[in-house]
Amino acid sequence: MRAPEILSLPIIESALSTSYIGRGTNELHDEIGSTNTRCAELAAAGAPEGTVVIARQQTAGRGRQGKAWSAPPDAGISFSCLLRPHQAKIPLNKLPLVTLATGVACARAIESSSGIRLGLKWVNDLTANGKKVGGILAEMPGQALVIGIGINIRLDVETLPEEIKERVDWLENLAGAPVDPNLVVVELCSRLEDEYEKLKAGDTAGILEAWRAYSVSIGRDVIARSGTREIYGHTIGLADSGALLLKTPDGELVELSAGEISLRMADGSYC
Ligand code: BTN
Repeated sequence: MRAPEILSLPIIESALSTSYIGRGTNELHDEIGSTNTRCAELAAAGAPEGTVVIARQQTAGRGRQGKAWSAPPDAGISFSCLLRPHQAKIPLNKLPLVTLATGVACARAIESSSGIRLGLKWVNDLTANGKKVGGILAEMPGQALVIGIGINIRLDVETLPEEIKERVDWLENLAGAPVDPNLVVVELCSRLEDEYEKLKAGDTAGILEAWRAYSVSIGRDVIARSGTREIYGHTIGLADSGALLLKTPDGELVELSAGEISLRMADGSYC
């Protein structure tokens, strides 16, 4: 049997067809704490927009809401990309759309590189059949924007903590075939550039329409939790800001903005 493909910067860089994403002072690490943290350091040091940091393993990967993100050796892609939205004069109120735009880029990249159509769970999860396959963590160190993406490709389920075993899935399991992480990264750079160009052009409608097409979060009975507060309702769509629109049982319309909100289905399922 052929050895599985592992991440290689020369392979990725030689296959890119982008104008600026993946064209900066890219780095590939065998092991690193967090690619987002490293990307923020490069941003502070003046690295160009589009610089990408990738790792075969993270030892201190970060997820949303202060959670850890597990990224064992060669089990997936830990990817961060540096963007400089102030240079493109993207209004600050459009930045919440970045996570949704990135979700679309991930879903499209995974579809074209592995044939798998994932779902997007508001606001930052990549899912399949009710399980989590990846996640997005967008951060703003200073004026820079760091887009962090983690995608499970070949997890060894036995190494996972008991509490997440039943809740995660990975691309090779879904495809029933090997998935080349280099191809996923190349496609990711390309799709990310497409979606970021939409954001720069003010094409909010295009981003929202594409996101809705992959959504598993609209038309569902959900419980949104913000701190100790819980709101029960039926999700009816997205606002132009990217907020999730929820109708409560007494007919009140609530806009959920990403922030510290976590979403679960009213029937207890993950999505
Ligand atoms: C989440 O689902 O909560 C978001 C997970 C984001 C993980 C990625 S892996 C690459 C980048 N570096 C990090 O430390 N986190 C993000």
